[in-house]
Amino acid sequence: MNKETNPLHRHPSIAVYPGSFDPVTKGHLDIIHRSAKLFDRLIVAVSHNSSKTPLFTMDERKQLLLGATRDLDNVEIDSFDGLLVNYLRKRNARLIIRGLRAMTDFEFELQMASTNRKLSEEAETFFMSTSPEYSYLSSSIVKEIAKYAGPVGDLVPPDVEQALRAKFPQVQ
Ligand code: PNS
Repeated sequence: MNKETNPLHRHPSIAVYPGSFDPVTKGHLDIIHRSAKLFDRLIVAVSHNSSKTPLFTMDERKQLLLGATRDLDNVEIDSFDGLLVNYLRKRNARLIIRGLRAMTDFEFELQMASTNRKLSEEAETFFMSTSPEYSYLSSSIVKEIAKYAGPVGDLVPPDVEQALRAKFPQVQ
């Protein structure tokens, strides 16, 4: 089936990968690289998770993501306030990408996917399993290690490592 006859290729496919990205980790980048290959355009959308207090400002998180995805032509970094489904409508998109690390992620992710579908029939969530080497990794874990001056070089890109050191100068 070629691009003209395959219904999936009738319109350019746009996917949105939403998250707090506080900060972006190699686990997020694994999902970004893999999904950028599957869709025509991937929008990485930084937002506020009302149950978390961020370490990095919205602007810092976007800058770190921009630096880490510089080599990917079809990836855009953006941010949004309010409901994800409203942002999807604004961007003419209906696909949401979320990474799944372990069963512990599943309950919350399923709840979020179902909520988004309740809010907008159009919204479809695609789950991508994180590569095994990053299955334990989260922004929270990275911040915890950095706070106590532990090594984070294997877990985040160099710019993020530097930014973390700047946030926790007292422990250097
Ligand atoms: O990286 P995170 O913290 O797991 O990302 C969660 C995020 C930001 C994607 C989620 O909290 C979100 O979509 N927030 C926007 C508000 C919203 O639409 N909430 C309804 C879905 S439950």
